[in-house]
Amino acid sequence: MTSTLVRPARAAVPLDPSVPLPVPLDDPRLATPALLIDLDVLDSNVARMAALAGRAGVALRPHAKSHKSLAIAGRQLAAGAVGLCVATVGEAETFFAGGIVDLTLAYPIHGDAKLRRLRPLVAAGALTMVTDSIEIAEGYSRLAVDAGEDIPVLLEIDTGMHRVGIPPGRAGTLGSQVAALPGLEVVGLLTHAGHAHDVLTQPEIAAIARDEARLLADARDHAERAGLQITVVSAGSSLTAPYLTAADGITEIRPGTYVLNDLRTITCYACTADQIAASMLTTMVSVGPGRAVFDAGNKTLTPTRIEQHGYGYPREIPDARVGRLSEEHGVLQLPDTEQLVVGDRVRMLPVHICAWMDLQREVYGVRGGEIVSRITVDAMRRSI
Ligand SMILES: Cc1ncc(COP(=O)(O)O)c(C=O)c1O
Repeated sequence: MTSTLVRPARAAVPLDPSVPLPVPLDDPRLATPALLIDLDVLDSNVARMAALAGRAGVALRPHAKSHKSLAIAGRQLAAGAVGLCVATVGEAETFFAGGIVDLTLAYPIHGDAKLRRLRPLVAAGALTMVTDSIEIAEGYSRLAVDAGEDIPVLLEIDTGMHRVGIPPGRAGTLGSQVAALPGLEVVGLLTHAGHAHDVLTQPEIAAIARDEARLLADARDHAERAGLQITVVSAGSSLTAPYLTAADGITEIRPGTYVLNDLRTITCYACTADQIAASMLTTMVSVGPGRAVFDAGNKTLTPTRIEQHGYGYPREIPDARVGRLSEEHGVLQLPDTEQLVVGDRVRMLPVHICAWMDLQREVYGVRGGEIVSRITVDAMRRSI
């Protein structure tokens, strides 16, 4: 008996590359789930944060993990961003290969398997690195010596998230130890106040931002008393950046999510519904009493759930909510007044857009109700 080898289609993207644009959202050639980006909303988000940074007198270094796309980074840089922040070696490689030569890798990088991949970036003077320990800094020092170029280093300060970072009082001691290693130049301080996601009111978020500034000023004091020259003080996420200015001693902000926004950002008062640029276009594949089932489950939308919005909800049916997800099925709970039929297409809002983008090879720019551009997610799954 002979068997026939069946090869799957090459490009697993929703819209075949041969289909000419523009394409209406109900075009049968567009498969779902497809991640859509409203380009007008994207552009206004980019412009708004650039203006905010300008008014605050701080540099803007967007965190690229939220979009992972050279095309979107290009829009941020064109609007005045000084460079990008990245979280992984793979992201750093991707954006450097795309021509971006001012990158801060805001993650402690450990081990030669990862460090050696950064050699070309260091040799080009394109990389600032971050540490909260002498062990991590020793790896950076070996890399700098090998690349023949000094590495600018930021000390990570814990301003309340209790993830990574040293207490402000240790900035002088650790800073001096790091600065004594060959090839390393301690140039500043960095913090991320991610715990702003855990509070329930706007005044509490403002208070966290005030702590960010106060504790960084304290750390700077310790570092300068130890003889270090601090020129970079980097803080501020999409949630806390609006409360930080140069007058607080901050020199740059690193918001990420703001570029597309999501339901977590709304919940933390950092955007409004019409500032969410992303949605997942889905198709109803089964309907039952009070529910409709669509073709995106937790492998696409991710299992992330928040108290206020569950797994998300559809843009156009605010009283409905995504009540349940299996791997490939999403269950939409519908109000009595709403009836959907098999084949209806509905756009779901993201709970956490950064996780959605990481899973997409290609997303689609929408203007005037039509897909007008294909946007490559260049650093998709580049988490190593
Ligand atoms: C180190 C660091 N900087 C900046 C950001 C950006 O935060 P947001 O996406 O809330 O703006 C993050 C987000 O995880 C981060 O980890």
